[in-house]
Amino acid sequence: MSHDDHGHGHGHGAGTEAPEAPPVNDTEGSLLNALRAKAEPLKKFMGGEYKETQVWKSIFRHKLDKSHRNRSLAVLSNVFLHLHPARINRNAVRYNFTWGMGGITFYLFVLLTLTGTLLMFYFHPSKGQAYKDIMYLQNDVPFGNLLRNMHRWSAHAMVITTWIHMMRVFLTGSYKPPREFNWNIGVLLLLFTMLLSFTGYLLPDDQLGFWAVTVGTNMARATPILGHEGPLGPELGFTAFNDVRFALLGGSVVDANALLRAYIWHCIAIPIIAAVLMIVHFWRIRKDGAISGHAPVMLESEVK
Ligand code: HEM
Repeated sequence: MSHDDHGHGHGHGAGTEAPEAPPVNDTEGSLLNALRAKAEPLKKFMGGEYKETQVWKSIFRHKLDKSHRNRSLAVLSNVFLHLHPARINRNAVRYNFTWGMGGITFYLFVLLTLTGTLLMFYFHPSKGQAYKDIMYLQNDVPFGNLLRNMHRWSAHAMVITTWIHMMRVFLTGSYKPPREFNWNIGVLLLLFTMLLSFTGYLLPDDQLGFWAVTVGTNMARATPILGHEGPLGPELGFTAFNDVRFALLGGSVVDANALLRAYIWHCIAIPIIAAVLMIVHFWRIRKDGAISGHAPVMLESEVK
Protein backbone atom coordinates (compact mmCIF):
# COMPACT_ATOMS: atom_id res chain seq x y z
CA MET A 1 0.00 0.00 0.00
CA SER A 2 1.41 3.43 -0.91
CA HIS A 3 1.36 6.46 1.41
CA ASP A 4 -1.45 7.94 -0.64
CA ASP A 5 -3.62 4.86 -0.28
CA HIS A 6 -3.00 4.97 3.41
CA GLY A 7 -4.18 8.57 3.78
CA HIS A 8 -7.19 7.85 1.68
CA GLY A 9 -8.16 4.82 3.75
CA HIS A 10 -8.38 7.03 6.84
CA GLY A 11 -11.01 9.36 5.34
CA HIS A 12 -13.77 10.19 7.79
CA GLY A 13 -16.64 10.74 5.36
CA ALA A 14 -16.88 14.33 4.05
CA GLY A 15 -15.11 14.93 0.72
CA THR A 16 -13.68 11.41 0.34
CA GLU A 17 -15.37 10.61 -3.01
CA ALA A 18 -12.50 11.63 -5.30
CA PRO A 19 -9.50 9.25 -5.13
CA GLU A 20 -6.91 12.02 -4.56
CA ALA A 21 -8.96 14.12 -2.12
CA PRO A 22 -7.43 14.85 1.31
CA PRO A 23 -9.41 13.46 4.26
CA VAL A 24 -11.92 15.16 6.60
CA ASN A 25 -11.98 18.72 7.82
CA ASP A 26 -9.70 21.49 6.66
CA THR A 27 -7.34 21.61 9.65
CA GLU A 28 -6.64 17.88 9.57
CA GLY A 29 -6.38 17.92 5.79
CA SER A 30 -3.92 20.78 5.58
CA LEU A 31 -1.86 19.29 8.39
CA LEU A 32 -1.64 16.00 6.51
CA ASN A 33 -0.76 17.79 3.29
CA ALA A 34 1.96 19.73 5.04
CA LEU A 35 3.34 16.48 6.47
CA ARG A 36 3.18 14.83 3.07
CA ALA A 37 5.04 17.73 1.51
CA LYS A 38 7.70 17.47 4.20
CA ALA A 39 8.04 13.71 3.70
CA GLU A 40 8.30 14.06 -0.08
CA PRO A 41 12.12 14.43 -0.28
CA LEU A 42 12.59 11.49 2.09
CA LYS A 43 10.15 9.40 0.05
CA LYS A 44 12.07 10.18 -3.12
CA PHE A 45 15.35 9.43 -1.41
CA MET A 46 14.18 6.08 -0.08
CA GLY A 47 12.51 5.29 -3.39
CA GLY A 48 15.85 5.11 -5.16
CA GLU A 49 17.42 8.56 -5.11
CA TYR A 50 19.97 7.37 -2.54
CA LYS A 51 21.49 5.35 -5.36
CA GLU A 52 22.44 8.64 -7.00
CA THR A 53 24.45 9.90 -4.00
CA GLN A 54 28.21 10.00 -4.13
CA VAL A 55 28.51 7.71 -1.10
CA TRP A 56 26.41 4.98 -2.75
CA LYS A 57 28.14 5.34 -6.10
CA SER A 58 31.57 5.17 -4.52
CA ILE A 59 30.69 1.72 -3.13
CA PHE A 60 28.43 0.27 -5.82
CA ARG A 61 29.79 1.32 -9.18
CA HIS A 62 27.46 -0.70 -11.35
CA LYS A 63 23.73 -1.27 -11.33
CA LEU A 64 22.62 -4.84 -10.75
CA ASP A 65 20.45 -4.81 -13.85
CA LYS A 66 19.55 -7.68 -16.11
CA SER A 67 22.40 -7.76 -18.61
CA HIS A 68 24.97 -10.47 -17.90
CA ARG A 69 27.85 -8.10 -18.55
CA ASN A 70 26.59 -5.50 -16.10
CA ARG A 71 25.83 -8.11 -13.44
CA SER A 72 29.34 -9.48 -13.69
CA LEU A 73 30.81 -5.98 -13.55
CA ALA A 74 28.76 -5.19 -10.45
CA VAL A 75 30.15 -8.24 -8.68
CA LEU A 76 33.73 -7.92 -9.91
CA SER A 77 34.11 -4.23 -9.10
CA ASN A 78 32.90 -4.51 -5.50
CA VAL A 79 35.28 -5.80 -2.88
CA PHE A 80 32.58 -7.45 -0.74
CA LEU A 81 30.65 -9.03 -3.59
CA HIS A 82 33.94 -10.00 -5.18
CA LEU A 83 34.47 -12.52 -2.37
CA HIS A 84 31.85 -14.60 -4.15
CA PRO A 85 32.22 -15.79 -7.72
CA ALA A 86 30.19 -13.94 -10.38
CA ARG A 87 28.51 -17.21 -11.37
CA ILE A 88 28.02 -20.41 -9.43
CA ASN A 89 26.70 -23.86 -10.09
CA ARG A 90 23.20 -23.79 -8.63
CA ASN A 91 23.35 -27.45 -7.57
CA ALA A 92 26.74 -27.11 -5.88
CA VAL A 93 25.44 -24.69 -3.25
CA ARG A 94 22.33 -26.72 -2.40
CA TYR A 95 22.20 -27.76 1.26
CA ASN A 96 21.61 -31.35 0.29
CA PHE A 97 25.03 -31.27 -1.37
CA THR A 98 27.16 -29.26 1.11
CA TRP A 99 25.02 -29.84 4.23
CA GLY A 100 26.04 -26.23 4.92
CA MET A 101 28.68 -27.71 7.20
CA GLY A 102 31.66 -25.61 6.13
CA GLY A 103 29.54 -22.48 6.56
CA ILE A 104 28.21 -23.56 9.96
CA THR A 105 31.78 -24.35 11.09
CA PHE A 106 32.89 -20.88 10.04
CA TYR A 107 29.88 -19.30 11.77
CA LEU A 108 30.77 -21.16 14.98
CA PHE A 109 34.37 -19.95 14.73
CA VAL A 110 33.13 -16.34 14.51
CA LEU A 111 30.79 -16.90 17.48
CA LEU A 112 33.63 -18.45 19.48
CA THR A 113 35.89 -15.51 18.72
CA LEU A 114 33.25 -13.05 19.91
CA THR A 115 32.24 -14.92 23.08
CA GLY A 116 35.90 -15.77 23.78
CA THR A 117 36.87 -12.10 23.61
CA LEU A 118 34.11 -11.28 26.11
CA LEU A 119 35.28 -14.11 28.40
CA MET A 120 38.78 -12.62 28.40
CA PHE A 121 37.41 -9.56 30.21
CA TYR A 122 36.72 -11.76 33.25
CA PHE A 123 39.63 -14.17 33.22
CA HIS A 124 43.14 -14.11 34.73
CA PRO A 125 45.30 -17.05 33.60
CA SER A 126 46.97 -17.59 36.99
CA LYS A 127 46.77 -20.48 39.44
CA GLY A 128 45.17 -18.55 42.29
CA GLN A 129 42.68 -16.72 40.12
CA ALA A 130 41.54 -18.81 37.12
CA TYR A 131 39.06 -21.12 38.86
CA LYS A 132 37.72 -18.28 41.03
CA ASP A 133 37.17 -16.16 37.93
CA ILE A 134 35.14 -18.92 36.33
CA MET A 135 33.01 -19.34 39.46
CA TYR A 136 32.49 -15.59 39.66
CA LEU A 137 31.55 -15.47 35.97
CA GLN A 138 29.13 -18.33 36.35
CA ASN A 139 27.41 -17.19 39.55
CA ASP A 140 27.69 -13.41 39.77
CA VAL A 141 28.28 -11.80 36.40
CA PRO A 142 24.98 -10.95 34.62
CA PHE A 143 24.56 -13.42 31.74
CA GLY A 144 27.99 -14.84 32.66
CA ASN A 145 26.74 -18.41 32.74
CA LEU A 146 25.09 -17.92 29.36
CA LEU A 147 28.31 -16.49 27.95
CA ARG A 148 30.38 -19.37 29.28
CA ASN A 149 27.94 -21.96 27.97
CA MET A 150 27.69 -20.32 24.56
CA HIS A 151 31.47 -20.59 24.28
CA ARG A 152 31.63 -24.14 25.57
CA TRP A 153 28.76 -25.56 23.50
CA SER A 154 29.90 -23.77 20.35
CA ALA A 155 33.35 -25.29 20.89
CA HIS A 156 31.92 -28.80 21.12
CA ALA A 157 29.72 -28.10 18.10
CA MET A 158 32.62 -26.78 16.01
CA VAL A 159 34.63 -29.96 16.55
CA ILE A 160 31.63 -32.04 15.46
CA THR A 161 30.71 -29.91 12.43
CA THR A 162 34.32 -29.86 11.21
CA TRP A 163 34.33 -33.66 11.19
CA ILE A 164 30.95 -33.81 9.44
CA HIS A 165 32.16 -31.25 6.86
CA MET A 166 35.22 -33.39 6.20
CA MET A 167 33.00 -36.44 5.85
CA ARG A 168 30.81 -34.77 3.23
CA VAL A 169 33.88 -33.55 1.30
CA PHE A 170 35.11 -37.15 1.32
CA LEU A 171 31.74 -38.65 0.35
CA THR A 172 31.29 -36.27 -2.60
CA GLY A 173 34.86 -36.99 -3.76
CA SER A 174 35.69 -33.28 -3.46
CA TYR A 175 39.21 -34.05 -2.23
CA LYS A 176 40.20 -35.10 -5.76
CA PRO A 177 42.21 -32.85 -8.13
CA PRO A 178 42.09 -29.90 -8.45
CA ARG A 179 41.05 -29.73 -4.79
CA GLU A 180 43.78 -31.85 -3.19
CA PHE A 181 45.69 -28.80 -1.91
CA ASN A 182 42.55 -27.47 -0.22
CA TRP A 183 41.93 -30.87 1.35
CA ASN A 184 45.36 -30.54 2.98
CA ILE A 185 44.55 -27.04 4.21
CA GLY A 186 41.39 -28.66 5.63
CA VAL A 187 43.43 -31.29 7.47
CA LEU A 188 45.43 -28.48 9.10
CA LEU A 189 42.17 -26.71 9.99
CA LEU A 190 40.93 -29.88 11.64
CA LEU A 191 44.18 -30.16 13.61
CA PHE A 192 44.01 -26.56 14.81
CA THR A 193 40.31 -26.89 15.66
CA MET A 194 41.19 -29.84 17.90
CA LEU A 195 44.10 -27.92 19.42
CA LEU A 196 41.82 -24.96 20.16
CA SER A 197 39.47 -27.32 21.94
CA PHE A 198 42.28 -29.01 23.86
CA THR A 199 44.02 -25.82 25.03
CA GLY A 200 40.68 -24.36 26.16
CA TYR A 201 40.12 -27.41 28.35
CA LEU A 202 42.78 -26.44 30.89
CA LEU A 203 41.78 -22.82 31.31
CA PRO A 204 39.02 -23.18 33.99
CA ASP A 205 41.70 -24.97 36.05
CA ASP A 206 39.15 -27.47 37.35
CA GLN A 207 39.70 -31.18 37.98
CA LEU A 208 38.28 -32.18 34.60
CA GLY A 209 40.61 -29.93 32.63
CA PHE A 210 43.62 -30.60 34.82
CA TRP A 211 43.48 -34.38 34.40
CA ALA A 212 42.53 -34.23 30.71
CA VAL A 213 45.58 -32.12 30.00
CA THR A 214 47.75 -34.31 32.24
CA VAL A 215 46.76 -37.36 30.19
CA GLY A 216 46.93 -35.49 26.85
CA THR A 217 50.37 -34.05 27.39
CA ASN A 218 51.65 -37.38 28.70
CA MET A 219 51.00 -38.72 25.23
CA ALA A 220 53.49 -36.12 23.96
CA ARG A 221 56.24 -38.06 25.79
CA ALA A 222 55.95 -40.68 23.04
CA THR A 223 56.32 -38.23 20.12
CA PRO A 224 58.78 -39.65 17.59
CA ILE A 225 62.13 -37.84 17.64
CA LEU A 226 60.92 -34.97 19.89
CA GLY A 227 59.60 -36.96 22.89
CA HIS A 228 61.86 -38.49 25.54
CA GLU A 229 59.92 -41.79 25.39
CA GLY A 230 59.38 -41.79 21.63
CA PRO A 231 61.37 -43.51 18.85
CA LEU A 232 64.84 -41.93 18.55
CA GLY A 233 64.02 -39.35 21.27
CA PRO A 234 66.40 -40.65 23.99
CA GLU A 235 69.10 -41.30 21.40
CA LEU A 236 68.93 -37.64 20.41
CA GLY A 237 69.36 -36.58 24.01
CA PHE A 238 65.76 -35.73 24.94
CA THR A 239 64.81 -36.08 28.61
CA ALA A 240 61.64 -35.20 30.60
CA PHE A 241 63.21 -31.77 31.08
CA ASN A 242 63.89 -30.70 27.51
CA ASP A 243 61.49 -32.58 25.20
CA VAL A 244 58.31 -31.46 23.39
CA ARG A 245 56.12 -32.13 26.45
CA PHE A 246 58.35 -29.88 28.53
CA ALA A 247 57.95 -27.16 25.87
CA LEU A 248 54.15 -27.52 25.88
CA LEU A 249 53.86 -27.34 29.66
CA GLY A 250 56.64 -24.89 30.36
CA GLY A 251 57.83 -27.47 32.94
CA SER A 252 57.69 -31.16 33.72
CA VAL A 253 54.23 -31.10 35.38
CA VAL A 254 50.89 -29.38 34.65
CA ASP A 255 51.13 -26.20 36.72
CA ALA A 256 51.13 -22.38 36.50
CA ASN A 257 53.31 -22.22 33.38
CA ALA A 258 51.13 -24.77 31.59
CA LEU A 259 48.07 -22.63 32.34
CA LEU A 260 49.72 -19.51 30.98
CA ARG A 261 50.99 -21.29 27.86
CA ALA A 262 47.59 -22.89 27.18
CA TYR A 263 46.01 -19.44 27.54
CA ILE A 264 48.35 -17.79 25.04
CA TRP A 265 48.04 -20.64 22.51
CA HIS A 266 44.26 -20.68 22.97
CA CYS A 267 43.50 -16.96 22.82
CA ILE A 268 46.17 -15.63 20.48
CA ALA A 269 48.35 -18.00 18.49
CA ILE A 270 45.94 -20.73 17.36
CA PRO A 271 43.00 -18.43 16.48
CA ILE A 272 45.35 -16.35 14.29
CA ILE A 273 46.76 -19.46 12.58
CA ALA A 274 43.24 -20.88 12.07
CA ALA A 275 41.93 -17.57 10.70
CA VAL A 276 44.79 -17.35 8.18
CA LEU A 277 44.18 -20.97 7.13
CA MET A 278 40.47 -20.23 6.68
CA ILE A 279 41.27 -17.28 4.43
CA VAL A 280 43.47 -19.57 2.31
CA HIS A 281 40.75 -22.28 2.40
CA PHE A 282 38.04 -19.92 1.10
CA TRP A 283 40.34 -18.39 -1.51
CA ARG A 284 41.22 -21.89 -2.76
CA ILE A 285 37.53 -22.85 -3.07
CA ARG A 286 37.18 -20.02 -5.59
CA LYS A 287 40.42 -20.76 -7.39
CA ASP A 288 39.59 -24.46 -7.66
CA GLY A 289 36.45 -23.57 -9.63
CA ALA A 290 34.04 -23.02 -6.71
CA ILE A 291 32.30 -25.79 -4.77
CA SER A 292 32.67 -29.03 -6.70
CA GLY A 293 29.02 -29.89 -7.37
CA HIS A 294 27.54 -33.16 -8.51
CA ALA A 295 29.42 -35.36 -10.93
CA PRO A 296 27.95 -34.94 -14.43
CA VAL A 297 25.47 -37.68 -15.19
CA MET A 298 26.45 -39.75 -18.24
CA LEU A 299 24.54 -42.40 -20.04
CA GLU A 300 26.34 -45.69 -20.55
CA SER A 301 26.31 -45.07 -24.28
CA GLU A 302 28.05 -41.70 -23.76
CA VAL A 303 30.99 -43.13 -21.83
CA LYS A 304 33.88 -43.43 -24.28
C1 HEM B 1 37.63 -24.81 10.57
C2 HEM B 1 37.31 -25.73 9.74
C3 HEM B 1 36.73 -25.55 8.35
C4 HEM B 1 35.98 -24.53 7.82
C5 HEM B 1 35.50 -23.25 8.52
C6 HEM B 1 35.69 -24.89 6.45
C7 HEM B 1 34.90 -24.14 5.59
C8 HEM B 1 34.53 -24.54 4.31
C9 HEM B 1 33.48 -23.95 3.51
C10 HEM B 1 32.57 -22.78 3.93
C11 HEM B 1 33.42 -24.62 2.33
C12 HEM B 1 32.41 -24.39 1.18
C13 HEM B 1 31.54 -25.62 0.96
C14 HEM B 1 30.84 -26.18 2.14
O1 HEM B 1 30.37 -25.40 3.00
O2 HEM B 1 30.76 -27.42 2.24
C15 HEM B 1 34.49 -25.62 2.35
C16 HEM B 1 34.82 -26.46 1.31
C17 HEM B 1 35.83 -27.40 1.36
N1 HEM B 1 36.48 -27.84 2.50
FE1 HEM B 1 36.39 -26.97 4.31
N2 HEM B 1 36.29 -26.08 6.16
C18 HEM B 1 36.92 -26.53 7.31
C19 HEM B 1 37.59 -27.74 7.46
C20 HEM B 1 37.84 -28.62 6.44
C21 HEM B 1 38.43 -29.94 6.60
C22 HEM B 1 38.77 -30.57 7.94
C23 HEM B 1 38.58 -30.47 5.34
C24 HEM B 1 39.15 -31.78 4.93
C25 HEM B 1 40.14 -32.39 5.52
C26 HEM B 1 38.09 -29.48 4.39
C27 HEM B 1 38.12 -29.60 3.01
C28 HEM B 1 37.37 -28.84 2.13
C29 HEM B 1 37.34 -29.01 0.69
C30 HEM B 1 38.19 -30.01 -0.15
C31 HEM B 1 36.37 -28.12 0.20
C32 HEM B 1 35.91 -27.94 -1.26
C33 HEM B 1 34.71 -28.83 -1.39
C34 HEM B 1 34.05 -28.77 -2.74
O3 HEM B 1 34.55 -28.10 -3.63
O4 HEM B 1 32.99 -29.43 -2.87
N3 HEM B 1 37.62 -28.38 5.09
N4 HEM B 1 35.12 -25.55 3.58
